[in-house]
Amino acid sequence: MKIITTIALSATFLMANSLMDDAKNAGLVPIPSSKTELLKLIDNPKNHITDAKVKLGEKLYMDPRLSKSELISCNTCHNLMEGGDDGVGAATGHKWRHNPHHLNSPTVYNAVFFSSQFWDGRAKDLEAQAQGPTLAHPEMAATKEHIVQVVKSMPEYVKEFKVAYGDNIKITFEKITDTIGNFERTLITPAPYDEFLNGYKEAMTPKQKEGLKTFIQIGCASCHNGVALGGEMGAFNVTATYKYMNVGDFKGDKNGMVKVPTLRNITQTAPYFHNGKVWSLKDAIKEMGRIQLGRKISDKEAQSINDFLQSLTGKKPNLSMPMLPASTAITPKPNLD
Ligand code: HEC
Ligand code: HEC
Repeated sequence: MKIITTIALSATFLMANSLMDDAKNAGLVPIPSSKTELLKLIDNPKNHITDAKVKLGEKLYMDPRLSKSELISCNTCHNLMEGGDDGVGAATGHKWRHNPHHLNSPTVYNAVFFSSQFWDGRAKDLEAQAQGPTLAHPEMAATKEHIVQVVKSMPEYVKEFKVAYGDNIKITFEKITDTIGNFERTLITPAPYDEFLNGYKEAMTPKQKEGLKTFIQIGCASCHNGVALGGEMGAFNVTATYKYMNVGDFKGDKNGMVKVPTLRNITQTAPYFHNGKVWSLKDAIKEMGRIQLGRKISDKEAQSINDFLQSLTGKKPNLSMPMLPASTAITPKPNLD
């Protein structure tokens, strides 16, 4: 009896071990459990993460006064209380305008692990990315001058910039967006999957482990890999054309490549794909099989992968609701036009 139990136990042990190896061989990388290792991954040597910058960046991320209408913040479309996105098909910004290319808002959680930002990868990092939406007409529709003026009009903000960067700081548009980027670097969500890959074998359920196996065997990890299970540019419409390709005019970058979205917290970021046309995760999994791998994915396989994807729902950082400084007489007024 004892021998049988020992054999059974070591079989489970070996299975878990080999699955861990398979995952690593497939290019899947956990969020490191060591804080020092993690900091190496998320820090920006040109704009080191500090508590003061992160605290200020969080306020700016949440402050709708940076937009022309003073109603729209980064958090409007990348809601940190949800999946770091907005839950609508096409992003909706200034004057209720939809994104002209029918683009869906991607999540900002774990975006620090992406090698480039935007669906076509046109920004190299979070700091560069943050300049886009503030000025984009269908998003926040502001001007650099508006944003700088808003921030400078509030003594509390000016003081916080000094604390973050030193007394000689010149508050520019780029410093403001850098600070938002610095905050975004901290938006990471370690999940049971990471604990599993970091060696705690019981962190994932047997079904989730089975699903991980399917995910690797079918070939999903050939594009959804690295720390983010995505984040690099990838080929699209490889074996067939995406069912809703005609919605919006997005065709990828100049080589037709599309940023592979992260699969972390994927259960919280519907609707799916660049134009947000697919609401069910299982449908998205099957569509991937059809257009990326030339393979029909059965209901059972889709369910199994779906089980695995649950293990990617992570723990959000502990944010407390920031109190924004009060507007002053010289703070620009909202403009709804
Ligand atoms: C009106 C909605 C909207 C607002 C407001 C908005 N975004 Fe976005 N965001 C989007 C959309 C849509 C995309 C994808 C656009 C593209 O790829 O061209 C995007 C892309 C991103 C990305 C890239 C993620 C990835 O997977 O490539 C980051 C990071 C981001 N936004 C952060 C921000 C920050 C910071 C702010 C505030 C300064 C902000 N966004 C304001 C809708 C919005
Ligand atoms: C050849 C590369 C490639 C392969 C293989 C691949 N994907 Fe994708 N995946 C992508 C790209 C690129 C997108 C973004 C497509 C778009 O929206 O335009 C994507 C999007 C997704 C999305 C939607 C994410 C979101 O936030 O909108 C899910 C879910 C997904 N893939 C899961 C899978 C699964 C499961 C498999 C295996 C069955 C798989 N993928 C195989 C490249 C790939």
